[in-house]
Amino acid sequence: MGVIDVYNASSLYMMDIQCRSCCYSSLPRLSPTSYFQGNRSLVRCMASTLPIKHVDDGRKQLTGDSFIRPHLRELSPYQPILPFEVLSTRLGRKPEDIIKLDANENPYGPPPEVLEALGAMRFPYVYPDPESRRLRAALAEDSGIESDYILVGCGADELIDLIMRCVLEPGDKIVDCPPTFTMYAFDAAVNGALVIKVPRKEDFSLNVEHIAEVIQQEKPKCIFLTSPNNPDGSIINDEDLLKILDLPILVVLDEAYIEFSGMESKMTWVKKHENLIVLRTFSKRAGLAGLRVGYGAFPLSIIEYLWRAKQPYNVSVAAEISACAALQNPTYLEKVKDALVQERERLYMLLKEVPFLNPYPSYSNFILCEVTSGMDAKKLKDDLAHMGVMIRHYNNKELKGYVRVSVGKPEHTDALMKCLKAWM
Ligand SMILES: Cc1ncc(COP(=O)(O)O)c(C=O)c1O
Repeated sequence: MGVIDVYNASSLYMMDIQCRSCCYSSLPRLSPTSYFQGNRSLVRCMASTLPIKHVDDGRKQLTGDSFIRPHLRELSPYQPILPFEVLSTRLGRKPEDIIKLDANENPYGPPPEVLEALGAMRFPYVYPDPESRRLRAALAEDSGIESDYILVGCGADELIDLIMRCVLEPGDKIVDCPPTFTMYAFDAAVNGALVIKVPRKEDFSLNVEHIAEVIQQEKPKCIFLTSPNNPDGSIINDEDLLKILDLPILVVLDEAYIEFSGMESKMTWVKKHENLIVLRTFSKRAGLAGLRVGYGAFPLSIIEYLWRAKQPYNVSVAAEISACAALQNPTYLEKVKDALVQERERLYMLLKEVPFLNPYPSYSNFILCEVTSGMDAKKLKDDLAHMGVMIRHYNNKELKGYVRVSVGKPEHTDALMKCLKAWM
């Protein structure tokens, strides 16, 4: 049984993966045994004994899980989210009658060109282009950076994992700034890395001084920053970002929601900063969450290795066709984005009037609310679900008694407000 001395417990926290912040409420949890000794936090890796099954005749036999990598045996079992159809049966409502404000999806869906292009798909039986050339050329036009700097993935999720696979040795450290998107901590666990948490300040801004200290003391390999941040919707200002970019660490800037912020993407910055990667996605901006297309801008000195390590056919023919078709209708994308931003402002004003909610201003397509006045956030989420409105509930170390509401169409806001009034 190995014991890894992770860090000084006075200022840092060990990882505690709750679930990914955007949509899945029940991904695997890592449960390393951690304890304190003096002022140091120690983590026990309990994986050196191979699981053995005793068979009837007294012989001992290795069990299948003995072949699994030790650190993965520490992950709790995967609990998949309910497919939409199953959810609809469980709630006794037709899928179209469920108001889904729990996963920051784009309720307008993609431009009509996407379904037309999918219907006209000619070669679904041929493997896709491993270099996604058509899409990368279209993204170069869309983003203003040459396609050599761009790599496409099966969602931004795949790129987060791919970056970690290329960068982290088992035992390496990453910096995570919770509350934030929990896939960074989850993927780090799968890749055998340790997570140093530097919690955000009360207003959800980054604690840059603490980040700098941790980088100096712990020498982590990379830091994941999210702007706008999921789940609170705050953005990172350029001054803070530049300070962190000056430190000896690879900065992965996740811009999954950048379109709703009114800010320019930092994709072109990767030409000036050898330690910056910028990630984006079609899931939110183009309503293509189900088709799984994400992309990133990388320094040329890094992208070369991602090309070597990625699965050759990571972006399906359908995904590439859809993303290209979506980019052909920028007017639609802009219109939908404007509608969501406008609705966000209306939703914020309405939530402010609810006596037991304290909503936070957001630059994204969701609004985080503290549930106040002694009301139970989990009960609120459950009761709304029975009324056909899904929202996200938080009950972890950084966010206890909070809910997050995705911005929907105006009629979704109206239905939510009606249910909140009925609940009071
Ligand atoms: C901050 C953040 N990054 C990345 C993703 C994943 O994006 P994709 O759907 O492209 O995998 C999400 C999903 O909600 C997210 O909230």
